[in-house]
Amino acid sequence: MWPWLLALALPALACVPNSTAQADIQALLAAGGRGYTLSLCPGQVYDVAGPLNFTAAEQEISTEGYPTGEARAVLRVVSGMCAVRGNGAGLDGVRLRHVQVDGNRVGNAGAPGSNEGNIEVGGSNRGQVVEWVRSFNPRGWTCLHVVEGELACANATIQHNDIGPCGHDTWADWADGISLSCANSTVYNNTIVDATDGGIVIFGAPYSTVSANRVRASTRVMLGGINLVDMLPWKPDGNYSGTRVVSNFIEGGYASAAGNASRGPNAARALIKIGIGVGPKVWWAETYQNTSRGGEVSNNVLSGAFSFGVAVGGVQNFRITNNSFVGNATFIGSYGANCTQWDKTPNPPTALLREPDSLVNVEIAKRDDYGWTDGRVQGLTCFVPPPANEWAWPYGGGGFNADPTTSASTPPTPTPSEVKAQDSAATRFVPATCLTLIAAAMAALV
Ligand SMILES: *[C@@H]1O[C@H](CO)[C@@H](O)[C@H](O)[C@H]1NC(C)=O
Ligand SMILES: *[C@@H]1O[C@H](CO)[C@@H](O)[C@H](O)[C@H]1NC(C)=O
Ligand SMILES: *[C@@H]1O[C@H](CO)[C@@H](O)[C@H](O)[C@H]1NC(C)=O
Ligand SMILES: *[C@@H]1O[C@H](CO)[C@@H](O)[C@H](O)[C@H]1NC(C)=O
Ligand SMILES: *[C@@H]1O[C@H](CO)[C@@H](O)[C@H](O)[C@H]1NC(C)=O
Ligand SMILES: *[C@@H]1O[C@H](CO)[C@@H](O)[C@H](O)[C@H]1NC(C)=O
Ligand SMILES: *[C@@H]1O[C@H](CO)[C@@H](O)[C@H](O)[C@H]1NC(C)=O
Ligand SMILES: *[C@@H]1O[C@H](CO)[C@@H](O)[C@H](O)[C@H]1NC(C)=O
Ligand SMILES: *[C@@H]1O[C@H](CO)[C@@H](O)[C@H](O)[C@H]1NC(C)=O
Ligand SMILES: *[C@@H]1O[C@H](CO)[C@@H](O)[C@H](O)[C@H]1NC(C)=O
Repeated sequence: MWPWLLALALPALACVPNSTAQADIQALLAAGGRGYTLSLCPGQVYDVAGPLNFTAAEQEISTEGYPTGEARAVLRVVSGMCAVRGNGAGLDGVRLRHVQVDGNRVGNAGAPGSNEGNIEVGGSNRGQVVEWVRSFNPRGWTCLHVVEGELACANATIQHNDIGPCGHDTWADWADGISLSCANSTVYNNTIVDATDGGIVIFGAPYSTVSANRVRASTRVMLGGINLVDMLPWKPDGNYSGTRVVSNFIEGGYASAAGNASRGPNAARALIKIGIGVGPKVWWAETYQNTSRGGEVSNNVLSGAFSFGVAVGGVQNFRITNNSFVGNATFIGSYGANCTQWDKTPNPPTALLREPDSLVNVEIAKRDDYGWTDGRVQGLTCFVPPPANEWAWPYGGGGFNADPTTSASTPPTPTPSEVKAQDSAATRFVPATCLTLIAAAMAALV
């Protein structure tokens, strides 16, 4: 029989109840083989001690009936730090859909030195999908890791997920929201709240498109909203060829109680230190000579409290245009002890910061009233938020004293071409010969 006839002949499989031993659930995946769907039961919690592994291409792990809210089955980590693993060999097209992954981080259980995320997918595979998944409280370093494999991961789709909280904002207890290291991938329409390292961290991931995501600091300090600061692992180092970050909405913290007419306190000191960080200098004070290449950061919208809205340092052949602010925004924080330990002291907080002598062939423009500040970009995570009781946070985000009718809580709508990773080369590198023209254009724009 043809496989599709076989599928028609079989009755719909009942969901696998949480009374089933994990080894038996794993055995179902192994026996089911290619294309098997492991259907979990709505509303049930499954304790996982070590990851549940995809074992063949095109497999799916999902909740029966595909609910989108609290009815999604919960995979709860009870030992180890990873709940689902799909980055092994031969796992093209596996799908994790409509489930919740609770890393069950109690205090800082499992956190220090941990090298796995709640979800590990990707690897040397194509066409994997993670969608309608909630992932939170990882014991490891990220809520969702899309791994590069032997630099052969491509075409992952990460969409409609709600992510966070991830990690704690105390020193080195951080975790990312989404860590993308797979090329030609699409990260679309995800909501990330209170990831404490980077909301979305892009490890080069050439030819990927990150669009229409919402990233917000609500009750924790986030180091970065969207990061393009890593040099590894794609070759040559710092490869962001065709990587596009477009039409995302990034919200730092807002006042959580009354202050004066324009600003108030924030009980959690919640803000995003760097809304969008572009280039290694922004993050690492000690590797300030490195340069990333390629990529586009456009049409993103920011609101709320940041130390820096967009910061750029150590890049070549980038296009950074039309990023803007809506509602109220403040740029706050003071020099922490680690701001002065390197050879240069970074510029104090500001909306848009760039270090001109570290930018080569970069098209850079502003959209609204905020202009670019030229200054030292170096390890900007060293800044520390104001005290909780300082009237430093703006009103907004639907919170205290916010405008209830504002469009400021709606992310920008990307054009269809901004949604998916492009099949054709998406980069619009400006030929180096135009460098002087660009310099002139920059001077006119800012
Ligand atoms: C999944 O694979 C890992 C090795 O990558 C193994 O340690 C773990 O036991 C496997 N999980 C199950 C449920 O068999
Ligand atoms: C990428 O993955 C998606 C989802 O699995 C699939 O529909 C699409 O055909 C894939 N595209 C390529 C070029 O492999
Ligand atoms: C985006 O994801 C949310 C779930 O977080 C969903 O309700 C919404 O329909 C999605 N929007 C689009 C345009 O796909
Ligand atoms: C970046 O990596 C991709 C995927 O490996 C490759 O196709 C591309 O040529 C690289 N970019 C540069 C500038 O080498
Ligand atoms: C960064 O640059 C330094 C030299 O300044 C070099 O030693 C190091 O290998 C580079 N790191 C990466 C990841 O390219
Ligand atoms: C600039 O960005 C805004 C917000 O994403 C968008 O509405 C507008 O169309 C963009 N303008 C251009 C010229 O792309
Ligand atoms: C400075 O860095 C050290 C580790 O090198 C860390 O323990 C300390 O908390 C940092 N201080 C601040 C204010 O961030
Ligand atoms: C509100 O308080 C902040 C912090 O003291 C101050 O910078 C700001 O000017 C005040 N705004 C008004 C409208 O009084
Ligand atoms: C911006 O702050 C003012 C008070 O200064 C407040 O009335 C307004 O609602 C805030 N805007 C938004 C979009 O929340
Ligand atoms: C990734 O996208 C680029 C640019 O469109 C294309 O040249 C390349 O073949 C794609 N790579 C894979 C593995 O799909």
